[in-house]
Amino acid sequence: MANENMEKIYQEAQSEIASSESNEKLQELRVKFLAKKSIIMTMLSTLGQLPPEERKTVGQKLNEIKNLITAAIDAKEKELSAKELAKKLQKETIDISLPGRNYNVGGKNPFHVVKDEITDIFLSMGFEVADGPEVETDLYNFELLNIPKDHPARDMQDTFYIDENTLLRTHTSPVQARTMELAKGQPIRIICPGKTYRRDDDDATHSHQFAQIEGLVIDKDINIGHLKATLELFAKKMFGEKREIRLRPSYFPFTEPSVEVDITCANCDGKGCSMCKGTGYIEILGGGMVHPNVLKMNGYDPDQYSGFAFGIGIERVAILRYGIDDIRKFYQNDIRFLRQYKKKA
Ligand code: PHE
Repeated sequence: MANENMEKIYQEAQSEIASSESNEKLQELRVKFLAKKSIIMTMLSTLGQLPPEERKTVGQKLNEIKNLITAAIDAKEKELSAKELAKKLQKETIDISLPGRNYNVGGKNPFHVVKDEITDIFLSMGFEVADGPEVETDLYNFELLNIPKDHPARDMQDTFYIDENTLLRTHTSPVQARTMELAKGQPIRIICPGKTYRRDDDDATHSHQFAQIEGLVIDKDINIGHLKATLELFAKKMFGEKREIRLRPSYFPFTEPSVEVDITCANCDGKGCSMCKGTGYIEILGGGMVHPNVLKMNGYDPDQYSGFAFGIGIERVAILRYGIDDIRKFYQNDIRFLRQYKKKA
């Protein structure tokens, strides 16, 4: 009777284990057949009530069944876990035939493209890059550049004042004075790209904030031929081999003589068109020979040293280079504008 009963329990366990489809179900079976209150365990704990001659065989049989069921559940558990894993792996395979995700890669603002190009051109000529503060003192922005307090040239360069002596620099030229101060009478060959500010009403060609690249060379026997050759090379590298430059007399308090530099119009090759207003030339920068007063004030003997300086409007070059019609577009970060220059960058 006991034997039959045990056999029945075993059969039942076997078939329930075999048909289990989840580990939770197996867990239930573990409780049902092997926990303290299961039939098998109850029978085991009441062995003592059996006649002595039956105790041993029944006990053995019960233990055997218990072990078999435990092993069967363990085996089934492994099998189910393996299946689960296989299913997961199947689901997670990467379909390499799917098209990739599209990532939007930004491009450089044309302003920076041009700024970097100009910088590279001068670096290739042996210039170094210098730096200076945008919040500048009256001394560096004006005084040391031969623009004293009552000088009329200050009118064209009104700016934002922090206090009477502190202002947002109106040009990158204060870096000339700062570099000369640091160089202590030694030769100089620097450019300085950077932001500048003026009290201007913003329109298509004016902005209260814009950028320049200053250039300064000081050494013995520097003459205006060096200035012209340097700027001609720059113009050809920037705008193409066919571009010619011309120097027109101009005025800056810190250079003497001063020049305005024009290049032949790329649109009409110098013949005259609407872009160059019929003149064949387009103005690109200002420059000149460093004024003896400036040399003197900044620690150089004008009888021994001479130099040239120039200031290039970065936006102006970018505008000419790319035919951009409004300076404000450089700062507005309109994606439709910027996208057009991505390839060129
Ligand atoms: N600083 C001048 C300007 O902003 C440009 C310039 C620089 C002229 C160097 C001559 C020499 O207008």
